[in-house]
Amino acid sequence: MKCVCPDHTLLTPLFPNPTLVSFPHMEIAAIQTHGLTRQFGALTAVNDVTFSVAPGQFFGFLGPNGAGKSTTIKMLTGLLDPSAGTIEILGKPFGASALDLKRQIGVVPEGMALFGRLTATEYLHFVGRMYGLDRDTCKLRTEELLEFMQLANENRKLVTDFSHGMQKKLAMAAAVIHGPKVLFLDEPFEGVDAIAAGMLKSMLQGMIQRGATIFLTTHVLEIVERLCSHVAIIHQGRLVANGSLEELRAGVASTLPGAESSQRLTLEEIFLSIVGAGGQQEAPQELSWLA
Ligand SMILES: Nc1ncnc2c1ncn2[C@@H]1O[C@H](COP(=O)(O)OP(=O)(O)O)[C@@H](O)[C@H]1O
Ligand SMILES: [Mg+2]
Repeated sequence: MKCVCPDHTLLTPLFPNPTLVSFPHMEIAAIQTHGLTRQFGALTAVNDVTFSVAPGQFFGFLGPNGAGKSTTIKMLTGLLDPSAGTIEILGKPFGASALDLKRQIGVVPEGMALFGRLTATEYLHFVGRMYGLDRDTCKLRTEELLEFMQLANENRKLVTDFSHGMQKKLAMAAAVIHGPKVLFLDEPFEGVDAIAAGMLKSMLQGMIQRGATIFLTTHVLEIVERLCSHVAIIHQGRLVANGSLEELRAGVASTLPGAESSQRLTLEEIFLSIVGAGGQQEAPQELSWLA
């Protein structure tokens, strides 16, 4: 199992030393980090994180609020410099100046970073041109994407007047307009209605079938369980688990007493047993002033 768990007593026996981890079956990883670290003053938001995502994987990056997911994705997409460690994308060193690599990735970052004073058509056209698409291709893909996202009738509004869910769909459209090989999504389903979420899921599955790699952060476990072939869990800046869902399930089950270990654990149970059992402060069970 390709897992690390530096100081987590529950899982220590399951997850070997990260320096011993090897990936013999992988030629060139789509994403590879070594010792990725980011500090904000005294806080180490991402702490010595090493992992690899194979081409074609749908990789779910899970963790509680504040665990370091968005900070990691910002470093992986050049939005934030690491304090230490290295990143390779498609086998090449990745940094803020790696323009050729940036053309091959797409990102829906935290906060989406849209330009509010444009219409959706203007925005997608602009993004497509920035990625180097010619005018005709931009026009065609913009129309197709707006139809697909059910935003085609919203073109008299500025993006700033879109609802949160509409902005999420537009951000997703902008992230894929150039046909990226590697797609990074930070909480893409947050605020999106059930119909749109279903559409987006099938679009992402289609991309995976055509060979793209997807790195998805979310705290919606059901989405990870349904979509992702691999799961990593970050907790307080450290990677505490990494493997296929079955590997994580087997790892956690092996720590449970007899009868419980034979049950098929849900991802929620796996997640809670990894991040809930250790390190969390005891929270008050109720708020006394609430009726
Ligand atoms: N720009 C920043 N300045 C200071 N602290 C930050 C900054 N960005 C994130 N953090 C802190 O880093 C930690 C990880 O944040 P984040 O990566 O956004 O978590 P997640 O996405 O897993 O919820 C949090 O404690 C957060 O407050
Ligand atoms: Mg986040």
